[in-house]
Amino acid sequence: MTRTLALHVVQDRRAGGSLAAERIAAAVAQRPDLVLGVATGSTPEPVWSALVERALDLSRVRAFALDEYLDIAADHPERYAAVVEREITRPLGLDPRLVRTPGDDGRDEGAPQRYERAIAEAGGVDLQVLGIGRNGHIAFNEPGSAADSRTRIARLSEETRRDNARFFRSLDEVPRSCITQGVGTILEARSIILLAFGPSKAAAITAALEGPVTANVPASALQRHPDVTVVVDESAASALRQCRPSAAAERA
Ligand code: F6R
Repeated sequence: MTRTLALHVVQDRRAGGSLAAERIAAAVAQRPDLVLGVATGSTPEPVWSALVERALDLSRVRAFALDEYLDIAADHPERYAAVVEREITRPLGLDPRLVRTPGDDGRDEGAPQRYERAIAEAGGVDLQVLGIGRNGHIAFNEPGSAADSRTRIARLSEETRRDNARFFRSLDEVPRSCITQGVGTILEARSIILLAFGPSKAAAITAALEGPVTANVPASALQRHPDVTVVVDESAASALRQCRPSAAAERA
């Protein structure tokens, strides 16, 4: 298996968003019914805006979100189903019937397996957009999550709850449990774009790309994926010592 981890160090998040949007646009041009994996949170926001600017026809794209809060009111604006609909489905013109978040069809014990099945029935994720937590999480796979973990009900770490408190009125309101795709589920995506911006992500990016592959840093499992593109700004790249932008990335 050839490993092609392409590192792109971009000037700012807007440039990172354009680069990722260009990749998505190219993938959709090849396959209009692309299966796109979408992340929520602040990081991918410039990707969605850059895609909106391109005014593409994305009506056949199928999308799967990474995760969903569990202990949150059905009408809460920060429920990821609502976030995906507000920030991705509507502005990008996706067909809401083709967009799924874990927990859409129930939040019972069978929900994780049903989500896995839905992804499999779609033929798997073609292109996954990923952010990274300061503690190295991907989706809500917190430190300790195994590289072969599957979609499951999990608990958020206190660090992640504090980081996400900015989206809520208080820390107390931040949910404690979630349904998340597993690391193993994510690794099955055919290609992955990992984005990180800002100095607060520097340590996590360095551990993920240059550290040992360990469950303590769930994102480090990406080192074993054959097709990962990493898009970071200079501050998120500032602690990297071994990874250099690949030739192809430098030309971009
Ligand atoms: C969101 C998700 C998380 C975020 C991560 C970074 O669906 O899966 O892993 O990508 O917490 O969040 P931001 O981008 O807000 O810094």
